[in-house]
Amino acid sequence: MNNYNPKKLEKFVADIFLHSGSNEQESKILGDHLVDSNLVGHDSHGVIRVSKYIEWLHQDKIKLNQSIKILKEEDHFLHIDGNFGYGQPIAKYSLDIAITKAKAKGHCILAMKNLGHIGRVGAWSELAATNDCVSIMFVNTSGFGILMAPHGGTDRRLSANPIAIGVPLENNDYLVLDMATSVVAEGKIQVAKNKKVKLADGLILDGHGNPTNDPEVFYSTVGSILPFGGHKGFGLAFMIDILSGTLTGGNSSHPDNSNSHTVINNTFAIIIDTKKTVSESYFQNDIKRLINWVKASPKAKGVEEILLPGEIEKNNKKQRLSDGIPLDDQTIKGLIDTANFVGMKDVDENFMKELLV
Ligand SMILES: NC(=O)c1ccc[n+]([C@@H]2O[C@H](COP(=O)([O-])OP(=O)(O)OC[C@H]3O[C@@H](n4cnc5c(N)ncnc54)[C@H](O)[C@@H]3O)[C@@H](O)[C@H]2O)c1
Repeated sequence: MNNYNPKKLEKFVADIFLHSGSNEQESKILGDHLVDSNLVGHDSHGVIRVSKYIEWLHQDKIKLNQSIKILKEEDHFLHIDGNFGYGQPIAKYSLDIAITKAKAKGHCILAMKNLGHIGRVGAWSELAATNDCVSIMFVNTSGFGILMAPHGGTDRRLSANPIAIGVPLENNDYLVLDMATSVVAEGKIQVAKNKKVKLADGLILDGHGNPTNDPEVFYSTVGSILPFGGHKGFGLAFMIDILSGTLTGGNSSHPDNSNSHTVINNTFAIIIDTKKTVSESYFQNDIKRLINWVKASPKAKGVEEILLPGEIEKNNKKQRLSDGIPLDDQTIKGLIDTANFVGMKDVDENFMKELLV
């Protein structure tokens, strides 16, 4: 495990996308988003994804350089078709419009269908929050991303259906809850497989419906991930599928749909300018009171600090911006192979050493 310089890594990852046909804007958005996911500690949604994205591109599961197609636009509503383009650029272009609308008109409902993988959903709530907007985002993966067993079931029926809720704080700061409704995000199983470590109890089933801790077994037998919180997590996941899949027109997780050959993230989001309901001072002061109240709870044994939604990510980012991003050998090999595949023939282990902190 070596630590990589975030800025150099961003440029390298953007270069891989540039060499694979993405334009500069698309390449930069992808490079920035993926490296930022590593910075906040979500390695499962970081540069480990590059090889998969390029593989999907070459399997025609994703289209290069797509612009957004506006299906319907009203003062408080935006319906977008992402044309099967990379999810991160489509999400950014769409959110920029929705945030502008929310700031002008108080709120905007954003429905997006047919986007590639949008990555770490919290990044989009952070974007809204740093523009003084509260956001609630629901995401599903129609077709190809089915991973989660229903409560009481034993095989894959739903996608990991994440939810993110973002709230702006003073000084460009924010609180962001960002979580899959599966008890663990699939990317974390991939990371555990790469690191050759076992998972905790109660997270996954093998392909025969039996509990297992082994990421290898999860993949080799096509196992499933359990919902978080039993019937409650399952219920939330099920309804998120309808909001983000059905209501956007992008399809629910049922495999019998036209998107089932690819990974498509459909998103239903509500963006609200906080100043349209209460004064800024009230909003911030009341949140401060809540934070202080909650943080003052006597800590359980072994707990150093009560953390708020998004706090662990902000702490990780501070640390990794100074120490660099740790990447395992398997991930580095994947990046080298992918760079070579897209024509960057000078990329090898020595080249990667130049990217170290
Ligand atoms: N695009 C997709 O299709 C897709 C699908 C699933 C998940 N994801 C992404 O995967 C990532 C990981 O999801 P996850 O469910 O594994 O997240 P997680 O379990 O690591 O974190 C969930 C939330 O809990 C908070 N948290 C973590 N530890 C805490 C603690 N000790 N105290 C208080 N709060 C704490 C985090 O700040 C976060 O808001 C997310 O970024 C999510 O958006 C994306």
